[in-house]
Amino acid sequence: MPDENQLVNKARPYSNHSVFFKKNYTAEERAATLEKVGLNVFFFPSEMITGCDMLSDSGTTTMTNEQWAALFRGDEAYGSNKGYFLLINRIKETFGPEFFNDPTLNKPNAFIFHQGRACEDALFSLLGKTGAGLIIPSNGHFDTTQANIEANNIKAVNLFSEELHNEASNSHFKGNMDIAKLKNLLDEKKEKIPLIYLTITNNTGGGQPVSMANIKEVADLVHHYNIPLFFDACRFAENAWFIHEYEPDWQTKDIKDIVKQMFSYVDGFTISFKKDGLTNMGGGLFLKNNGLFLKKYPTFPDTLLNYQIIKEGHPTYGGLSGRSIMTLVSGLKTVTKQEYLTHRISQVQEFGQTMHEQGLPIVMPVGGHAVYLDINKFFTGTAMKPEDFGGISLTAILLAAYGHRACELGYFAFGSYNKKTKKEIFPEVNYIRFAIPRLKYEKQDLDSVAEAMLLLYKNKDKIPPINVTYGRDLPLRHFKARFEFNE
Ligand SMILES: Cc1ncc(COP(=O)(O)O)c(C=O)c1O
Repeated sequence: MPDENQLVNKARPYSNHSVFFKKNYTAEERAATLEKVGLNVFFFPSEMITGCDMLSDSGTTTMTNEQWAALFRGDEAYGSNKGYFLLINRIKETFGPEFFNDPTLNKPNAFIFHQGRACEDALFSLLGKTGAGLIIPSNGHFDTTQANIEANNIKAVNLFSEELHNEASNSHFKGNMDIAKLKNLLDEKKEKIPLIYLTITNNTGGGQPVSMANIKEVADLVHHYNIPLFFDACRFAENAWFIHEYEPDWQTKDIKDIVKQMFSYVDGFTISFKKDGLTNMGGGLFLKNNGLFLKKYPTFPDTLLNYQIIKEGHPTYGGLSGRSIMTLVSGLKTVTKQEYLTHRISQVQEFGQTMHEQGLPIVMPVGGHAVYLDINKFFTGTAMKPEDFGGISLTAILLAAYGHRACELGYFAFGSYNKKTKKEIFPEVNYIRFAIPRLKYEKQDLDSVAEAMLLLYKNKDKIPPINVTYGRDLPLRHFKARFEFNE
């Protein structure tokens, strides 16, 4: 008898527990609404999305029934709620005991926030006061991370790996930090660098993972220069899955052990639990007990505690309700399960593979949470110019015509406008990101997006340029700007 391993189509490792039916809207209705909000897809009502909402994988996870049950058991006490103690244990189990000191020791090193960017502001606002002309390098800062660094007069530098732009390379770890560039920077400016960041996986750099070898190499190098290393750890479990899958030394190891090993190299991390916490809200800043960061900045925990109490809440709940803490405790348990991660990332990879086979120019190999379309390559052979912001136009048409929402993360989102020269400054990367919410969509949904994109690709010369009608010169402009088609 043939066995189940011969099946090409394997059933998902979960079943739907609860669903909702979408409302019906026509392309004309969507187009009219999109026009009213100045073609800014962030302002388009999600209720009107008839296809897939791929604007973000952040906070959009479908929770498990265990999480919904945990939510009911949430304890909303102002101080030391039940979930807080469960969270302490879960953080220690997941990342290592050194990242959450027992509260009775009165040596705080773990700070709960309402989301990732709040942790970033806490960290960088304190670091910004330690000196002038500081620099924080990364393998790829996320947009809010970069904005929080710059808001505190620190320079954010991206040291993307050369592999990222090398199509011929089939490296599975294009999210790595470029070691040669890092070494040069350290040699020239080490006294200006308070810490180094590694974003796992590298959201700005095509959602690509970082290898264990690169994490270790970066850690050894920066520690040699007496500089602490931090993770932006939003997608730590997805990154661990890639290490398990593609790095020879780790293929027989358990995901949980890989995660522990990854975190053994860092002195602290910030995390948005809205991704691999599998929860809808939450964030944290964790400083390794006896790590280099705490050795260099021993007074930070006290200042952070004051910051947290003033801005978020008592340290035992931070910025979170008791019920959110309960869903997080449960989510962190699910996220490191091999069967969950294999299904999750295979779904993203299969979606990317379909786009790739259709000839759409996407970043290959596909990363863990999203598929990234190269806008410049998409418009090759058309009259579209960089300052026409073809990515904005493409996402607007995809939403209006086919009901699927994706996000431009390229020349508009990461670029800026110099008012003096009246010129755009373009970033290194120009992508549209199709982020896939966790546990939400089925193959049929994603196939529909790929089909819509193929139709647009075949008609790419009919996609009009964009005029920016508002917000070209604002910081974080993609969240606020308004546009019109230049037809
Ligand atoms: C890599 C990375 N860092 C930080 C953040 C910020 O997290 P939050 O949205 O919870 O503020 C995000 C959000 O998408 C992210 O992808």
